[in-house]
Amino acid sequence: METRIIQITTPEDQLGHFAPSASSSPLSPLTKWIVPPATASDPALSLAAQHLRETSIPVAFPTETVYGLGADATRSAAVKGIYAAKGRPSDNPLIVHVCDLDMLRNLLRPTPSTNGTDGSPHEEDDPIPAIYHPLISTFWPGPLTILLPMPNPFPLAPEVTAGLHTFGARLPASPLARSLISLANAPLAAPSANASTRPSPTSAQHVYDDLAGKIALILDSGEPCGVGVESTVVDGLCDPPVVLRPGGVGIDEIRRVEGWEGTERGYKDGRAGEAVGSKPRAPGMKYKHYSPRARVVLYEAGGKGVMGGLSGKVSVEVAAGKRVGVIRTGGWERWVGVACEMVGDVDGREVAGDEDGLTLKVVEGRLPEGAGRILDLDLGEDVKGVAHGLFSALRELDRREADVILVEGVGDGDGIAAAVMNRLRKAASVIKA
Ligand code: TXA
Ligand code: MG
Repeated sequence: METRIIQITTPEDQLGHFAPSASSSPLSPLTKWIVPPATASDPALSLAAQHLRETSIPVAFPTETVYGLGADATRSAAVKGIYAAKGRPSDNPLIVHVCDLDMLRNLLRPTPSTNGTDGSPHEEDDPIPAIYHPLISTFWPGPLTILLPMPNPFPLAPEVTAGLHTFGARLPASPLARSLISLANAPLAAPSANASTRPSPTSAQHVYDDLAGKIALILDSGEPCGVGVESTVVDGLCDPPVVLRPGGVGIDEIRRVEGWEGTERGYKDGRAGEAVGSKPRAPGMKYKHYSPRARVVLYEAGGKGVMGGLSGKVSVEVAAGKRVGVIRTGGWERWVGVACEMVGDVDGREVAGDEDGLTLKVVEGRLPEGAGRILDLDLGEDVKGVAHGLFSALRELDRREADVILVEGVGDGDGIAAAVMNRLRKAASVIKA
């Protein structure tokens, strides 16, 4: 199958808007996403939407977190197409992406009852459980996935939930994603658009590198995804509520929301001090994940206390001809302090840039006595910047054929750092304190 990357031509601020609402309900601004006719005829967007409606081959599209691989969540054949293209185990459920709350409410209650004047239901009639209302009004549209009870009859393909009694739903912050969902006229089941076990894709090229020949279309926004790590998955149907996967929204932010003060971590990733045993509740959290081909060695403590030892190890461990990738996050010195001979120009080569000014530069050095090379990549100390560039950095060092990648950890924290460390622990073959 030929795989095409198709570029959106409509400017972001013309992709659509939420309908103005007369109601004072905190959720009503998200009731209805409207796509103007001119945007509906954007050649790339309309072609992608047509593929989603008429074929069973998934379409890759950008969201604010990572690229998703979307299919009409109501058609089994289309959802099966996702598992086939990714090589994903079928017991790992998919997140359902909606363009507005109307679409979500229609899923939860196929026949709407008493609605308010602007079409949004009265609080007590709302099929969206009340516990989620303050969370939705704080974080949607955005990188947060909520677990909802499966309605009966269930309007989605059974393959979406992989046999569970709940489904995950998300209203993405990306207007492009919302307009695609709206034009496809269906909720989209969409996992990250990487081949199973690989780092998630944050650019159209990453998707192409993994899935060329397996899908027909990759919708390209022309920019890397802003957040860079996936959505936070929360379950508010249990008491206390839990975070099942850390992501773009921090547990600290969630705990500031009414009704969510007691939110606990419901995932395990080998963090210091966590309990062991019991199986993970988000099925996806048990798989090997986010892995480049190179062996990843994660230094949890980052720059603290390992410098001298690390620089010594690198020179000793690296056999002739080997390539060591280094991902730094503010503490380590270039080439982890090993005296290297510079290869190429001093500024290295730019591999990715974006509007927010993040640029990944790889600076290549030759180890003493020709023992090998070090590819040095600095993500900076701002943890949002680290999240933004993380998957791209792992993929770039893979592309440059690093044999081993040494990563400087960022320390856990309650914010997006928890997501960064979670992904790194899953990518790592070796974790050093
Ligand atoms: O940011 C994101 O969430 C991206 C973009 C494309 O939206 N999507 C994404 O999907 O990361 P995926 O399939 O790669 O990860 C979904 C995670 C998995 O860990 C899965 O097990 C969990 O969400 N999940 C989905 N439905 C669930 C459910 N009903 N119960 C528990 N966990 C669920
Ligand atoms: Mg994924």
